[in-house]
Amino acid sequence: MAGFIPENILDDILARVDIVEVISGYIPLKRAGRNFKACCPFHQERTASFIVSPGRQIYHCFGCGESGNAFKFLMRYERMDFPEAVETLARKAGVTLPQNESINNKAQGLITQLYKINELAAEFYCANLNSQEASKAKDYLLKRGVSPETIKTLKIGFAYDKWDTLINHLRGKGFNLGILEKAGLIVSREAGGYYDRFRNRITFPIFDIKGRVLGFGARVLDDSLPKYINSPETLIYTKGRNLYGLNLAKEGIRGNDFAAVVEGYMDFIIPYQEGVKNIVASQGTALTIEQIRLLKRYTNNVVMIYDADSAGELATLRSLDIFVEEEVTVRVVSLSKGFDPDLFVRKNGIGVFSKEVNAAAGLFDYKLAVLRSRYDTKEITNKAKVSSLMLETINKFKNAILKTEYLKKLASELGIKEEALLEEAKKKKANKFYDTPQPNFKNSPLSVSPTEKLLMSLMLEENSLIGRVRETIDLRDFKDERISRIVSLMFSLAAEGKEAKPQILMNHLGDDISHLVCEPDSLPEGLSLKHKERMVDDCLKRIKGGGEKLKREELHKEIKIAQDSGDEERLNRLIKEFHCLIKTSYNKKKNDI
Ligand code: UTP
Ligand code: MN
Repeated sequence: MAGFIPENILDDILARVDIVEVISGYIPLKRAGRNFKACCPFHQERTASFIVSPGRQIYHCFGCGESGNAFKFLMRYERMDFPEAVETLARKAGVTLPQNESINNKAQGLITQLYKINELAAEFYCANLNSQEASKAKDYLLKRGVSPETIKTLKIGFAYDKWDTLINHLRGKGFNLGILEKAGLIVSREAGGYYDRFRNRITFPIFDIKGRVLGFGARVLDDSLPKYINSPETLIYTKGRNLYGLNLAKEGIRGNDFAAVVEGYMDFIIPYQEGVKNIVASQGTALTIEQIRLLKRYTNNVVMIYDADSAGELATLRSLDIFVEEEVTVRVVSLSKGFDPDLFVRKNGIGVFSKEVNAAAGLFDYKLAVLRSRYDTKEITNKAKVSSLMLETINKFKNAILKTEYLKKLASELGIKEEALLEEAKKKKANKFYDTPQPNFKNSPLSVSPTEKLLMSLMLEENSLIGRVRETIDLRDFKDERISRIVSLMFSLAAEGKEAKPQILMNHLGDDISHLVCEPDSLPEGLSLKHKERMVDDCLKRIKGGGEKLKREELHKEIKIAQDSGDEERLNRLIKEFHCLIKTSYNKKKNDI
């Protein structure tokens, strides 16, 4: 990753790339005198007012005012951050970037090697698929309707039914066993020695958005279990952080301004092959927040496609709420019983599939329909139950207009008074505050709390302290979302018995926050472990105390509102809660002394 880059190198890169070439890689440009013209990719328009000047090496839109150089274009169009844009163009220009000194060079070298190993493994598996020994795998794929062209595009391959073919192949290329294990491709035996992780399976490389191979999913050829084996988490692969197929679908997603999200490898492959180019697979799990944020680089609209079994589950419904929190519009298709997208397309054709996707119901309508099929809302108690479940979603809308419109709609659908619903919504919100306090995340660099930062530094320096923090803290106690993310990552690394060192964390963190783990900390040298433990405890106390203060302030506000609106009942309840809060925090302090 590019760290701080001196100006002269940036200039050098810009001098060597041609903005016309860069931009015409994305949109068609037409010559117009000395300049080039196109319809602006940043706003809707019919006549071309987007100008690219080869002389000045800039673009400018006379319609929307957007303008900049080649870096800026990539940042706006590809949603890259600055270092990514610089890296991309540096590669194009053949300019070598200076390495960020705070990154351990060895770790960087390791990462580069892991990508290389995966690349070579993918090539190896691909070549295998064409051999006689793999004929049953090839037949299997063809029988399932995967075309030779798709096999090539997705680099689908085959791992032989042997214990050491990959080991031998990669050792022959000069890689040692230790690093092959770090790549997750081989497994060590207790008795000593290693064997190939994937055997007698069809292999699907998992790509990142740049098309680099992060790891593999591998399927058996019959009904034996487990159906799929996936790469374990490695320095470059973390489950739930990527979307299968996004490297191919990102343009389609941007173009259609929505992404169809399915669960399985095959559910991506068949529709994509048949022409649905804005599709990705979550690889079996409910979408994670990181996957949603990845999609948000390209669109704010998602259509989830479930098979009938999972679609009606309350857990599934609830998982959709994070879209609302992320302000992504989500619609849902639930396929008829026994179908998944792969089967559906092969049975009914891509046209019917696309129709279903385009006609997908919005989250509100979908959730209400599922709940109504489950609870007879003619019954009064069911009405209350369904309202309550619907309010969980509605309360998550940040936009007040959407929220009130949905409340109105729900009231009319269920035949209840809007005021009653509104009251319940408010109650729920107030209660929720105590169940799951909503952190007041602030992200400006100035607002990193020194205490939170110190705690993170202590944990980074002394991984053995992570457990102590984990026992006490709730991730929502952190005011700074970035610190919360970093600490959460440290928790998961520690849980897997891995080291949580800056150079490792960096690979898992976006550029927006990875600098936080690289900054030198201000810890004095030579502190004893005991001393550090005391410092950790001190930080924890302050952070948790801060959370309570926030709650108290919030509650204060609510009390004032209730007072002003003359809502006696609510006021009394809030005051009771306020007393409760003060009492518990007082008791806690007493116990601490
Ligand atoms: P499915 O069981 O729906 O598989 O799991 P599928 O994709 O439809 O596979 P086919 O059609 O039987 O070949 C959905 C996804 O869950 C993950 C995989 O990513 C799979 O594509 N999964 C499933 C695993 O990782 N391991 C498993 O054992 C099963
Ligand atoms: Mn399937």
